[in-house]
Amino acid sequence: MCGITGYIGFREAYPVIIKGLQRLEYRGYDSAGVMLYDGKNINLAKTKGKVSDLQEKVKQEISNQGQIGLGHTRWATHGIPNDINSHPHVSQSGDLVIVHNGIIENYDSIKQELISRGYSFKSDTDTEVLINLIQEVKEKYQVKLGKAVQLALKQVIGAYAIAVFDKTKPDEIVVGRLGSPIAIGVGEDYKEFFVASDASPFIEYTKDAIYLEDEEMAIIKKGREVKVRKIKDDSEIDPDILELELNLEQIEKGGYEHFMLKEIHEQPRAITDTFRGRLLMDQAIIKMAGVEDNMKKFLNADRIIIVACGTSWHAGLVAEYIFEEFARIPVEVEYASEFRYRNPVITEKDVLIAISQSGETADTLAAIKLAKEKGAFVFGVCNVVGSSIARETHAGAYTHAGPEIGVASTKAFTTQITVLSLMALRLARAKGTMSSSVYRLHLQEMEMIPQKIEKLLAIDEQVKGIAKKYLLSTNCLYLGRGYNFPVALEGALKLKEISYIHAEGYPAAEMKHGPIALIDDRMPVVVIATNKGHYEKVVSNIQEIKSRNGKIIAVVTEGDTTVKDIADHTIEIPETEEAFSPLLTTIPLQLLSYHIAVMRDCNVDQPRNLAKSVTVE
Ligand code: AGP
Ligand code: GLU
Repeated sequence: MCGITGYIGFREAYPVIIKGLQRLEYRGYDSAGVMLYDGKNINLAKTKGKVSDLQEKVKQEISNQGQIGLGHTRWATHGIPNDINSHPHVSQSGDLVIVHNGIIENYDSIKQELISRGYSFKSDTDTEVLINLIQEVKEKYQVKLGKAVQLALKQVIGAYAIAVFDKTKPDEIVVGRLGSPIAIGVGEDYKEFFVASDASPFIEYTKDAIYLEDEEMAIIKKGREVKVRKIKDDSEIDPDILELELNLEQIEKGGYEHFMLKEIHEQPRAITDTFRGRLLMDQAIIKMAGVEDNMKKFLNADRIIIVACGTSWHAGLVAEYIFEEFARIPVEVEYASEFRYRNPVITEKDVLIAISQSGETADTLAAIKLAKEKGAFVFGVCNVVGSSIARETHAGAYTHAGPEIGVASTKAFTTQITVLSLMALRLARAKGTMSSSVYRLHLQEMEMIPQKIEKLLAIDEQVKGIAKKYLLSTNCLYLGRGYNFPVALEGALKLKEISYIHAEGYPAAEMKHGPIALIDDRMPVVVIATNKGHYEKVVSNIQEIKSRNGKIIAVVTEGDTTVKDIADHTIEIPETEEAFSPLLTTIPLQLLSYHIAVMRDCNVDQPRNLAKSVTVE
């Protein structure tokens, strides 16, 4: 999820690597580390905190000499942010060093196997398991590092971008990629090479780069062409060396104009990473440690109280519909800021779920503490490992969205819904409120969601065209029913917070209780009209708006013809289970608010008056 760097060549490695880590700081991280080889020793420094803290540690503790090294900025997935869990990690022999971005899903079973073979572990990370697996394979088959990495990665399930160094063969770096990016900067006449998560650490040294594809690895040796191989069969590939045209800022945003747009497009990967290791299709089960370990508390709960703020509160509203429909557990959703002060009735029979991307929102944290004082079991859904909320709750489940840089939450919202949907399905299965066939159907559909979002993102140009027509609006209404009522609220929040146009979300049926008085030919109305969500009723709501000259932007299920004949604009989304439709219907609304904000020259990634995490009341 975060950043790796590496260097081998004729320069001193440390200045290249530390500057590379600074270049990668935009990706967000919780700790940093560096390994340098001075021709004799591996010198390693790593720390929780910022790159500047790492620089201090290097100055105090190690020699920074050497022309080969690795660097890392961590976004923790396994093991809280602390010095021991920071990267690089060293194998038990002391010879092998690794930096890793991603998640090793089957790390626990590999770890148990290695422990049975006499390995011990210093950290709680999945990465330390991987470097010891590589050592085990290397010793067992008496092979060089490159072959050992290839054989080890064939045993790994998960996502990785790794760079590995072997002290016994200190003239090469081995890299491998599956799901997390790796770029190799190629120096003139192969005299030096750079390894990084993107080109920002080396663009000032060389514009020639090789981008590994998934399931590829490479052995990088000074003075020699890079050898790229397929991990699955060790076959050799002739790599394309690209000449990069991007500037630094473009690289940081992955070529997108803003972090928000990049994060909208990251959602397929973020959702995949979030159900990775939890949605086990081969066994047709869901496995979530935090839920399994506390199953009785969930099953015996009188009710589930969900507390959150902003977009996370909207995810909680979606969860209310899903939990009640699937698991038949009463749910109430509360603004944390209200809940904490209204002296709510809470008992030991209550389960409180706190949802927070940052894990630092003051109101949500206060609501958790109140619920704990009153004896409730508290479960957290956070995106930041080791955050205050993650540490304060009794148990939890992380969204593996990776750092969300844009202030407006996008991938956090869809990965929160993903976690909450998996929880509701798991509890429904445990309670017997869902048949195994319906359960399997939902698991299969959830697995399809990332590719449906990938396909749906192609509507970007169409949405941009719609945005052009409404960028001067002063008000906007968003309507939805059922599962898509919270999406209407979320769509309105997105527009408000980044384009500063006033917008409100309503249940579609609420129109006739007041808001319809607002409708005229200057009022754009976004209506979510999926084919399974009280469709006929929403169509009549659309007709009511049409008859008052409202401008209608409808989000419909692909193939819809009825709404197409009435609405001014229709955006089609792929068919899906209604309970999962928010994961799709929110995408056009994210893009609509994004394009309107850009056309209004707003600061999309840092909107006025807003902070990414509201750590004060
Ligand atoms: C949503 O786009 C905003 N960034 C804001 O409403 C946010 O969702 C809210 O502040 C809660 O933040 P949290 O998820 O980090 O607790
Ligand atoms: N899963 C690894 C860890 O938790 C790597 C996380 C990352 O991508 O930074 O240490």
